[in-house]
Amino acid sequence: MHYPWWYVPYSTGPMLIALVAVVHVLVSHYAVGGGLFLAVETAFAYRKQHRDYLAYLRRHARFFILLTVVFGAITGVAIWWTIGLASPLATEVLIRTFVFGWAMEWVFFVIEIASAFIFYYWWGRLPERTHVRIGWIYALAAWISLVLITGITAFMLNPGDWPGNRTFWVGFFNPQFIPQVVARTGGALLLASLYVYLHASLSIKDERLRELVSRRSIRPSLAGAVMITAGGAGWYVFLPPSAIAVLPSAAVLNVFMGLIVAMTAVVFAALYFGPYRNPSWLSPGFAAMMLIFGFGAVSIGEFIREAVRKPYVVYNVVLGNQILPEEMPRLAESGVLAGGTWTRAFVTDRYPELIRDDRLDLDRLAALHHADRVALGEVLFQYQCNDCHAAANGYSAVGPLVRGRSPREIQRLILDFRNTHFYMPPWAGTPEEAGLLADYLRAIAPDNPEGMFLGGNAREDDR
Ligand code: HEC
Repeated sequence: MHYPWWYVPYSTGPMLIALVAVVHVLVSHYAVGGGLFLAVETAFAYRKQHRDYLAYLRRHARFFILLTVVFGAITGVAIWWTIGLASPLATEVLIRTFVFGWAMEWVFFVIEIASAFIFYYWWGRLPERTHVRIGWIYALAAWISLVLITGITAFMLNPGDWPGNRTFWVGFFNPQFIPQVVARTGGALLLASLYVYLHASLSIKDERLRELVSRRSIRPSLAGAVMITAGGAGWYVFLPPSAIAVLPSAAVLNVFMGLIVAMTAVVFAALYFGPYRNPSWLSPGFAAMMLIFGFGAVSIGEFIREAVRKPYVVYNVVLGNQILPEEMPRLAESGVLAGGTWTRAFVTDRYPELIRDDRLDLDRLAALHHADRVALGEVLFQYQCNDCHAAANGYSAVGPLVRGRSPREIQRLILDFRNTHFYMPPWAGTPEEAGLLADYLRAIAPDNPEGMFLGGNAREDDR
């Protein structure tokens, strides 16, 4: 509300966050599970004095570091950029609430990077026990950073008692914390095994060694699939009421939920009958397919986890349109155009005569040209709807959603959000402002398809 808006054509800013975050999550889970894999397996290979396996693990460590430290770190920073631009108020709330959580997370991140480099670059130069210990330091630091970030991201879905008791630990140990830590730890185990399978199937020629890798990684991956399922069930149980209500009203989410269950089941069955029963099955094609299924299940899971956060981005704390609920009464009085830092700057610059006594002058508003009403309506769209809808074309574009309705009908629909469309934030401005927005929406709405017997598009009160 009090930040400049950021319009991303077609996709909307939050969908860009989803894209960047999913790409990041597919690698960051490997950063956790792969660390555990390297620590456990180097210890095993030293114990058995298995030279070939050690040589393979060293090659794997190089691939692991390139992918997680370089790509993982870049996409992690990209998340900060996109959330800061697309969701500034929610980002502000997260930083204020969890500043020491982020600080802890960065400490563990530095430990992760330092130990990963020592583990790889000093391979063969450290005593075996020390080398394994460094591997464990990495694995532990990586898992702790997963736990720290999960506490903060789970807070957005259900902050529990926090709105009443705004202390760090109340927010951190929110109702979603344990289910999501379990699910993410499972995701880390499963995805890491699938990365290992693909890497091993492509880079190991010796069949016996390939079988060994295949057998060694099967238990963590099956355990991971079970943990994802258990964590997912906990996630559902601890959803806030509005999120549970969103699920049945959004058909696409139901299809996605079914897909996740199906994909996890396919991965589980394929792992069981493949590497578990027949370790020699491990081929690049099989491994690539498994990884694609794993990516699919995790990406869709992340998408749903985000999509149910409605009408809030931070439940009970920040509305989906970047407005604090406690600001609503004031905005209903002053209106959004006169009441927001940047909207007010815009209006004062373009239409200085419109604002009087800290609110819009209704007489002068009524005298505005249609084009000016549309221009003001667009500003209102950017501030109240752009977080979930593209404009005329693109993701959940609002133009087609109001197709065939008159401005008066659209205005009534908007004013009635709080009663009829609970998954959208209630209208924050004045009824006259809803009229401006309706004019803009009517202007960008497409016509009905030709040849329909609806009696054309124009209605009596259209313009
Ligand atoms: C927090 C996210 C969010 C915000 C903000 C939001 N919407 Fe929506 N809106 C949705 C969702 C989800 C749907 C369901 C339709 C869908 O699945 O695409 C929806 C549906 C709609 C529909 C179709 C409703 C129907 O019954 O036909 C209209 C019209 C609409 N939105 C307009 C708006 C307008 C105008 C604004 C700004 C004042 C707005 N929305 C703000 C999430 C949002």
